[in-house]
Amino acid sequence: MVDTHCHLSKEIYENLEEIINNMKGIMIVSAVNIKEIKEALTLAEKHPNIFVTIGLHPEEADNYTDKDLEYLEKHLKHPKVVGIGEIGLDYHYTKENKDKQQELFIKQIKLANFYKKTLVIHCREALEDAYNILKEVKNKELKGVMHCYSGNIDEAKKLIELNMSLGIGGVLTFKNEKKLKEVVKTLDIKYFVLETDSPYLTPEPFRGKKNEPANVKYVAMKISELKNINFNEVIKTTNNNAKRLFDLPI
Ligand code: NI
Repeated sequence: MVDTHCHLSKEIYENLEEIINNMKGIMIVSAVNIKEIKEALTLAEKHPNIFVTIGLHPEEADNYTDKDLEYLEKHLKHPKVVGIGEIGLDYHYTKENKDKQQELFIKQIKLANFYKKTLVIHCREALEDAYNILKEVKNKELKGVMHCYSGNIDEAKKLIELNMSLGIGGVLTFKNEKKLKEVVKTLDIKYFVLETDSPYLTPEPFRGKKNEPANVKYVAMKISELKNINFNEVIKTTNNNAKRLFDLPI
């Protein structure tokens, strides 16, 4: 299994080593500020099955410095870094710094273009702006993923045309979630990668507890049920999708 998006640190998990051991597969840790990048790289250097994507989250839009971007750029060459992210737009908490969010997003897409690093996009209540920026700034052949995809089928198709994949997470298992289930039923599994976004978005039947990468199997089980594809086939296909998307050296 590959959990293409999780957050792992000692601050989040007292029993971090146990959490890592529970996951029989690959974990891609999303590190979204300088402190997290340092920590995640140390973790990845220690564990062969941990890779990292690094970026400055839209939350950093008001406070980041050129030095932060330089630090980011320098570490893109680290052998365990497989992408830039999560980066993007988040209008849920505030739209007031929209311009700054977009500026930071664009700068990092340009870095991804230059270094040919897969994009991991965080997008909350900003899909139209994110789409337009990707369309305009991203190199056509550069790969990327819409982390925790939450749009509809038509929006998904437009993003797929831009060479984007869809990150499917625990939300799929929520009882009242309909839109994402339709997306998963309708579109080809070749566009999907699995993720947990641990410690957030814990799937059923563990909703309410802290999420962990090993729970990615519950997302696979739900895809298997919705698409009527054998569970092992879901794992095999989504593993290959993840390997391709992030050029994983495995
Ligand atoms: Ni995340």
